[in-house]
Amino acid sequence: MNSNQFWKNILLLGLAFALPWIFLIVGPFAKQSQAEPRAYSEAEIEAGGAGVGASFPDPSSENYRNGAGAGAKIYEAEGCAYCHTQMIRPTYAGPDRWRPGWAGREEEGLLRETEPEDYYGEGVAKLGYQRIGPDLSNVGYRITSREEMHRHLVDPLSINADSGMPAYKHLYTPSPRGDGWAPTGRAEALVTYLLSRKKDAKIPE
Ligand code: HEC
Repeated sequence: MNSNQFWKNILLLGLAFALPWIFLIVGPFAKQSQAEPRAYSEAEIEAGGAGVGASFPDPSSENYRNGAGAGAKIYEAEGCAYCHTQMIRPTYAGPDRWRPGWAGREEEGLLRETEPEDYYGEGVAKLGYQRIGPDLSNVGYRITSREEMHRHLVDPLSINADSGMPAYKHLYTPSPRGDGWAPTGRAEALVTYLLSRKKDAKIPE
């Protein structure tokens, strides 16, 4: 190998390490270390922005109880987080914002990635481990009826013949006539929790 080629290889190797390091470590670090805590103004709170939206619930509100309540505990206990995330990644880390319905209500200009405030009030932030199924941060906008949400839990194959989602029949009891499933209190709590997953409230400038 002539020495020119040698230095060229060293340079290319250097770039192969340096570029990912700059974009994945230095860039995000520089951005996050600039972050300043900032109090919400009265006007923002009155305008319905952060602090009162679905994502930033008042501890006395129904949304808050749903996010930290019985349904959330069942979500944890049943291991939903092994297959579902609740984390819309920043664009540098993946194309979540472009996945249909994942990042919020596009028509209303409310698409956004997850912010730390979105986990406010939740006992455990359910970021998730893997994405075998879709992200559930905004599933409350995609599935809006209790009935459909129950069907998704008790018999996913009836909605999607290729579904890889397990049927959670142990949260239901067979109906007396044997032609359906009646939700237990645990299934009801879980569905209330799922319908409350709406994490697209506006964050102030
Ligand atoms: C083994 C992995 C796995 C586990 C565990 C799992 N799911 Fe799923 N889930 C999936 C897959 C795959 C899909 C996508 C296919 C489908 O829609 O059925 C899905 C879809 C869903 C959907 C529909 C999402 C949409 O956008 O239409 C909901 C709601 C859901 N799961 C809730 C749950 C809940 C609640 C639990 C825990 C009780 C759970 N899942 C556990 C794999 C899983």
